[in-house]
Amino acid sequence: MDKDLEKIKNSALSELENASTVDEINTLSVRYLGRKGAVTQYLRHISSLPEQERPAAGKNANQVKKILEDAIKTAKERLEDIREGSESAGIDVTLPGRPALQGTLHPITQINRRICDIFIRMGFDIAEGPEVESDYYNFEALNIPKYHPARDMQDTFYMSDNIVLRTHTSPIQVRMMEQYAPPIRVVAPGKVYRCDSDLTHTPMFHQIEGLLVDEKVSFGDLKGVLTELVHQVFDTETSLRFRPSFFPFTEPSAEVDILCVMCRGKGCKVCSHTGWLEVLGCGMVHPAVFENVGYDTRRYTGFAFGMGVERIAMLKYGINDIRLFFESDDRFLRQF
Ligand code: FA5
Ligand code: MG
Repeated sequence: MDKDLEKIKNSALSELENASTVDEINTLSVRYLGRKGAVTQYLRHISSLPEQERPAAGKNANQVKKILEDAIKTAKERLEDIREGSESAGIDVTLPGRPALQGTLHPITQINRRICDIFIRMGFDIAEGPEVESDYYNFEALNIPKYHPARDMQDTFYMSDNIVLRTHTSPIQVRMMEQYAPPIRVVAPGKVYRCDSDLTHTPMFHQIEGLLVDEKVSFGDLKGVLTELVHQVFDTETSLRFRPSFFPFTEPSAEVDILCVMCRGKGCKVCSHTGWLEVLGCGMVHPAVFENVGYDTRRYTGFAFGMGVERIAMLKYGINDIRLFFESDDRFLRQF
């Protein structure tokens, strides 16, 4: 068969195979078999061939024409079948499709990464620790002995007498100091667990722990780092205050409140009309903790802090119920 004719046949057949509507098939039919179609034109040019070539060329061209006519008929029948099949099954194939929803990073993941990025730029490393933790790391090494009333500060899920779901990210402080000599500068994000549930508390939530140990570290350094963090996460108008508090593993200890981002301090529902919102606990590392990890308490001082990531996300996005983060409601999550 002539090369040109062969080409026409092959491209027509492969285009037919890809056609998915009757309209497309009709267009193809015109393009190949219509009055100005490729096969018709080929047939016409046969008269200009040398006499002895004409019969074979004519025969081949008519054969191709027949093949294409049949293929077009079959393709149309195939589409009809599909349509009838789906109509009887109650499916209307002419309806537009439903777009697949695209996933995005969870708002807590976004805030988590943003906060860690800010600390990385300040020269902190990232550390992690286990969520199922021993009583020693979660409590005792942090100066919270067994049966001490300070344990009541955190409602604990016990796996067994000596194994707990970590109630805070502070055990990572101890693990880091056991592994590395000072100076140390780390933040440790992670999930923590407490038997707790209401508008501002969930049984699982996220904290980011911070620890910096070196010679001559002061409370002023702690204030500087946390002020910079708040200004970068919110804005430089957001003032913060350090309120005296108590943690067994820091001395002195403080809790940090930020000026309510909803009412700018005027007082509203979100801040219980105080104008301030608690976001984290912090303080200077207690010498008893340094002794537990073998650090020289005369040479080194350090600060630590632990912030609630959900609380910061709630303030950042103006969300008044923490449980929304964990209900997997697409209408909520799509906003971030
Ligand atoms: C602690 O967990 C200390 N480990 C923080 C710390 C670290 C102090 C290092 C000193 C040095 P506290 O229990 O206050 O502290 O929790 C810290 C933050 O976690 C709170 O400010 C709050 O933002 C958040 N938080 C506490 N409980 C919940 C909960 N159930 N749901 C959501 N967020 C919570
Ligand atoms: Mg607290």
